[in-house]
Amino acid sequence: MDYRSNSSEDEYEENQTDILNIRCLFCSVSFGTFENILVHIKENHQLDFIDKCRTFNLDIFQFFKLINYIRKNEIKSTEVEAVLESKSYNVESYMIPTLEDDHFLMFDFEENLPKKGVINLDNNSDIDYINSYSHFGIHHTMLSDKERTLAYKDAIIENSEAFLGKSVLDIGCGTGILSLFAAQAGARIVVAVDQSDIIDNATMIIQQNGYENVIKTVKGKLETIDWKLLNLPTQYDIIISEWMGYFLLFEGMIDTVLFARDNLMTNEGKLLPNRSKMFFAAFSDSNFYEKNVDFWNDVYGFKMSSFIKDVTSEAMVEVVNGENICSSSEVILELDISKCSIESALQVNSKFNLRFEQTATIHGFVGWFDCYFEGMFKSVTLSTSPFSESTHWKQTIFLLKEPISIEAGKSLKGEIEILRDTSNARALNVGLYLEQLNMSLQYNISC
Ligand SMILES: C[S@@+](CC[C@H](N)C(=O)[O-])C[C@H]1O[C@@H](n2cnc3c(N)ncnc32)[C@H](O)[C@@H]1O
Repeated sequence: MDYRSNSSEDEYEENQTDILNIRCLFCSVSFGTFENILVHIKENHQLDFIDKCRTFNLDIFQFFKLINYIRKNEIKSTEVEAVLESKSYNVESYMIPTLEDDHFLMFDFEENLPKKGVINLDNNSDIDYINSYSHFGIHHTMLSDKERTLAYKDAIIENSEAFLGKSVLDIGCGTGILSLFAAQAGARIVVAVDQSDIIDNATMIIQQNGYENVIKTVKGKLETIDWKLLNLPTQYDIIISEWMGYFLLFEGMIDTVLFARDNLMTNEGKLLPNRSKMFFAAFSDSNFYEKNVDFWNDVYGFKMSSFIKDVTSEAMVEVVNGENICSSSEVILELDISKCSIESALQVNSKFNLRFEQTATIHGFVGWFDCYFEGMFKSVTLSTSPFSESTHWKQTIFLLKEPISIEAGKSLKGEIEILRDTSNARALNVGLYLEQLNMSLQYNISC
């Protein structure tokens, strides 16, 4: 699924562009994000620092004092609890930073403090994304996408034998729909994790349908969950997740799935879906082009053509009809999710050679993806192709500033590069290079 940013997007981007150098409280290591430094403290110093501060009900001033106290007195992570109990840090003089320019003090403690009862939620820079999944509307869109939901249902229910008696992890469970399918398929235990408030609905839905003995819900960011503390399995036989964004990689949730694969899956474990492919083709649709590009050349007799630059640098997410694909479809990425490195999904660079059987006027290019559920008894394909039934992912369109004409029998060679947007890690930048025309084009997918 894909989140749509809202009016607070600017704030989110601001947070992302700050360059931080946050030094660990207990060793000399530094990180650029609070998320990483807090994970480091947890993993290397066995301390959930924010959770500990929450347990002792610290306010923002006490939080500052504690940090300065720890640094000044070189407190070890194992001594933090005793310090908090003794309140020895709670002295005015510790309002003065021990370290000059200490970026740890910039942590938005009040704003991002997890609520009581919320386990391990570390959401300091991702609040808009998390909130976008709290509303029922987005879940209605996903659940009513039958192509999507029934592909998952088939992949689970029609492989019940593989699920029988197994432990299943559902990453980003939303309403809990995939967990319910897994429980129906006979899983012994299903752990359903989600970091947004929708988990409260999932918990109710699971109870309402009588699956509370099989499905356990956990609210929190998957990467920071303390499985042992929650008395939950630390290794799973099957991991299921619906993580795909527009043009597959928008939204960046694949990172979480690969983290789970590497840390929480048994050696023989299965990942569903296990493979995906991205496709790219040329498209021709003069009506669409007139409505979206030419429109700006004459708006009630006025020229507004300065917008054309924007329209042709932002990818559009719309349903494209198969008959408007005017070239061959090229595979630009094949991801074996059960083996691939995170880098292979972060930096896509692929050459293409689009072949044209008929003379065409190219108005733009189109991208889409398929996902495959394999390695069990029944294989299932979820396709978002313009030649299949449409899904809520639709297709991703990259419009040209000027249409290009091409003759039958000719081909168009080029290169596509997909990178994460440095100012918004969930967005993508797509670069296209058309070889014969020596033309470079840049698009952003931020939806
Ligand atoms: C596309 S929705 C899928 C919902 C549900 N599985 C379904 O198929 O209808 C993805 C869900 O993953 C959650 N999510 C994204 N990243 C997460 C993370 N790192 N930890 C926990 N939940 C996450 C989001 O809050 C969202 O509810």
